[in-house]
Amino acid sequence: FTGASQWVPPDGGLKKLLAALPECRGCDLYEDADRVVPGEGPARARMMLIGEQPGDVEDKEGHVFVGPAGRLLDKALAEAGIERSEVFLTNAVKHFRFERQGKRRIHKTPAAGHIKACHPWLDRELEIVKPSLVVVLGAVAARAVFGTGFKVTEQRGLAQELPDGRAAIATVHPSAVVRSREYRRDFTLFVNDLRAALALLK
Ligand code: URA
Ligand code: SF4
Repeated sequence: FTGASQWVPPDGGLKKLLAALPECRGCDLYEDADRVVPGEGPARARMMLIGEQPGDVEDKEGHVFVGPAGRLLDKALAEAGIERSEVFLTNAVKHFRFERQGKRRIHKTPAAGHIKACHPWLDRELEIVKPSLVVVLGAVAARAVFGTGFKVTEQRGLAQELPDGRAAIATVHPSAVVRSREYRRDFTLFVNDLRAALALLK
């Protein structure tokens, strides 16, 4: 893949980014997805949450975290005392990757090449929003932000620092909690990590 660089505006704000995003041909994922799903939230958000990629519902509606994972995230944010409307929510990869099984579209984890190709969009979002804290949701976002070798299961809930000096913290992806067989335990752990994130902002 050639990567997204040539489609990412080198200047301007979120509006300009939003206008440019649908033109992106940085990897093959735009071909089968219905639409691109941009990051959303205040341009001056202090906290940026980074997920994996849009899901089936997000791809149909064009908004981040509006499907089952989003509902769980909403619940967890509320329990942790974080206002969804005050954080910037985005994904490491901006198009939905899936496999067809009959009529259903089944989520397929983005490949390393997709994560790398889409990274210029994430970089630009970070440059524009300048969050004080980055909250990494799951292994794909961790790969995008920390690189390979970062283990979410070992590092979750612990303060991290990005190469640019920005504070960060990692936790699991909300869809992992949705699918969990030990839901109550995993939901509580997820909320605890979000509380730890909030504490890092203070
Ligand atoms: N999962 C994600 O990582 N992001 C979304 O927007 C929805 C589901
Ligand atoms: Fe561009 Fe990212 Fe979509 Fe690939 S996934 S086409 S890099 S926006």
